[in-house]
Amino acid sequence: MHLTREEENILNGEQGNAAAKAMEILVAIGKVFGAEKLIPVTSAQISGVSYKTIGDAGLEFLENFAKDGRVRIPSYLNPAGMDLEEWSRLGFSKEFARKQMRIIKAYQKMGVEATCTCTPYLIGILPKKGEHVAWSESSAVIFANSALGARTNRESGMSALASAIVGKTPYFGYHLDENRVASLVVNVKAKLEDISDFGALGIYTGAIAKQRVVAFDGIETVTVDEVKTLGAALAASGAVALFFIKGITDEWRVADKPERIEFGSRELRETKENLNSSRDAELVAVGCPHCSLEEIREIAERVRGKKLKRKLWVCTARKIKRKADKLGLTKVIEEAGGRVVSDTCMVVCPLEELGFERTAVNSGKAAHYLPSFCGQKVLFGSLKEILR
Ligand code: F3S
Repeated sequence: MHLTREEENILNGEQGNAAAKAMEILVAIGKVFGAEKLIPVTSAQISGVSYKTIGDAGLEFLENFAKDGRVRIPSYLNPAGMDLEEWSRLGFSKEFARKQMRIIKAYQKMGVEATCTCTPYLIGILPKKGEHVAWSESSAVIFANSALGARTNRESGMSALASAIVGKTPYFGYHLDENRVASLVVNVKAKLEDISDFGALGIYTGAIAKQRVVAFDGIETVTVDEVKTLGAALAASGAVALFFIKGITDEWRVADKPERIEFGSRELRETKENLNSSRDAELVAVGCPHCSLEEIREIAERVRGKKLKRKLWVCTARKIKRKADKLGLTKVIEEAGGRVVSDTCMVVCPLEELGFERTAVNSGKAAHYLPSFCGQKVLFGSLKEILR
C-alpha cells in the first residue's frame, strides 16, 4: 500500500505511540483488503463503548491508548452500557458504573464526543452523498451508505478509532463504486404496515444476503424510522452494509444476473413467528436503533393517561431526550410508569443482570440479538401489540 511521507512518519512514531499504533492497524487492514492507499475521512463513529461488551481488557486498552492518542476529525460514540445520568435509578451497579465512566473518560480524553448513540444521523451528524467516513455501528453504517449515500465500510470499534486518530481509512470496499452493486434483488410482495414488518423484512433478507448489497423492489414509501429499522435488521442477521430501494434511494446499481427472491405475506408471517420466543415480558423496550422524536411522540400518545403494568424503556440519544423533555413527552411517559433511557440500549446494557428474562420489542435487530446477548426470551410485535 502506498503511504505518503507524512503517513510513514506517523507509522514511525513521530506523532506518538497511539498514532503509530493506529496507523499500523490501518495499514494492516489495507494490506489484507488490497487497498492501494489511505483516503481522508470526515468523521468517525466508534463502537466498543459498553463495559459489558469490551470488559476490563477493552478498558485497559483504551486508557493506554488515551495516554497520547488524540482524534483529528469529529468523532462520536456508540451507546454505552448504561444511562450515564440515570444509571442508579435504573438499577445498574456502582461497580459497573465506575468502569463504564472510565471508558467514557478515556474516549473523551482522546477528543471523542460522548454522543452515545447508534443514530448520529438523527442528531445532526449527516455526512453528504459521496463523503467518506469511518463508522462502525452496523446500523449506522448501513444507514450512512444507503440513506445518505455516504461511503463507509463496516469498521470495527478499533479500526474506527484508528481512523479517528489518523483521519484516514484504507481505500477499499464500499468506498469504491465497483463494490456498490446489488447482487440480490428482493421483490417485496408483502404489505409492510408497521415498523416491525420492516424489521422482519431485514431479518429475512439479511440471512440470505450475508455480505452482499441488496436491492428492494416493490416498497412504495418509507419513513426515516422504517429505513433505519430495515437497515439495522439487515446488518444483524447478515453483514449487509448497503441496500437500495427502487424509486427511493439515490443509488440503484444492480449486477447483470442478480439472485432474485420474493418476500410475501408467508415470509413475513413466518419471520415474525420465528423471532418470538415468549408470550409475555417484564420489560417493553423500544428504540433499536435509538428512537427518533417522532417515535417518542407516538409512544407518549399511546401511553398518555395510562398506568403501565410492565416496565417500559424508550431508548434514545441524549440530545433527542432533551427535546422530548422540553416537549413534555418524557413526563407523559414517566407518569405512565415508563422511562426514557439515554446513552444505552436494551442490547448493549447488561439487561440480564437487571433481573429481566423476557423482553418485548418491535425491532428485528433487538429480537435477533436479545436471546444470545442478554439471555432474553423475546416477544416481538408491532408497537401497538407490545404496548398492549
Ligand atoms: Fe443501536 Fe443498540 Fe440496536 S446500539 S442498533 S439500539 S442494538
